[in-house]
Amino acid sequence: MTAKIIDGKAISAAVKEQVRAEIERDKIKAGLAVVIVGDDPASRVYVNNKKKACELCGIQSFEYALPAETTEEQLLELVDTLNADNKVNGILVQLPLPKHLDEKKVIERISPIKDVDAFHETNVGKIMIGNYAFLPCTPAGCMELIHSTGVEVAGKECVVIGRSNIVGKPMAMLLLHENGTVTICHSKTRDLPEVCRRADILIAAVGKPNFVTADMVKPGAVVIDVGINRLENGKLCGDVKFDEVSEKAGFITPVPGGVGPMTIAMLMRNTVTAAKIQAK
Ligand code: GUN
Repeated sequence: MTAKIIDGKAISAAVKEQVRAEIERDKIKAGLAVVIVGDDPASRVYVNNKKKACELCGIQSFEYALPAETTEEQLLELVDTLNADNKVNGILVQLPLPKHLDEKKVIERISPIKDVDAFHETNVGKIMIGNYAFLPCTPAGCMELIHSTGVEVAGKECVVIGRSNIVGKPMAMLLLHENGTVTICHSKTRDLPEVCRRADILIAAVGKPNFVTADMVKPGAVVIDVGINRLENGKLCGDVKFDEVSEKAGFITPVPGGVGPMTIAMLMRNTVTAAKIQAK
């Protein structure tokens, strides 16, 4: 069996087009502030892609590129300024921050109604109880990809590898809200391959190149690869050993061109949601 490739680029383009059309039709004024501290090359690429997506959708973007030596006080002051700025509907502080800055403190300073990443405790809590304005971008992008396969989540065995606050935990919640039977695996999980083999829907968010091998995958499963790992030769690779798993899965996302573009599309959707909430 050869898996169908889930085209994240095409699905992301369709979501962005929906957002663009809504902005145009309803004459929505939306602005997104993106803050980047230091010069991490991967963060730079992500921030540039976010800016490009804003342009495409008709969202005004404001970039704040701060030097690596920025103090916590300066960064918090900028967040306060953006919280108070009516043109800014969404605030995104690109992570990771340089080590001397407390990420948690910075995130908690963002006004929850402008927190388009849905990283603030208030928004995390809302996701937990299923009452959310903002979708956690990467998990929500994964859900769109799963929906595109036509495979229903309800009743299915869903296994999430990884328990980060950004991906693993909120991913498990979204699957649960759609009535999946959800297992979260991590480094202490006993016989992880066996647990993964139960999965009708397998989400890999470990951050280890080629971690998921064919023997860990149930024939016909939906395999979503959240990993973006840079190999020594400069090439990108996911958490899933694509060549062999694509011979066994029913559906699989490629890296690049799978989950990555979806995260940005969901961010655009959240920014419009933020603008609509704040216009009320
Ligand atoms: N770093 C990696 N992914 C993300 C994301 O989705 N949002 C932010 N703010 N930083 C990130």
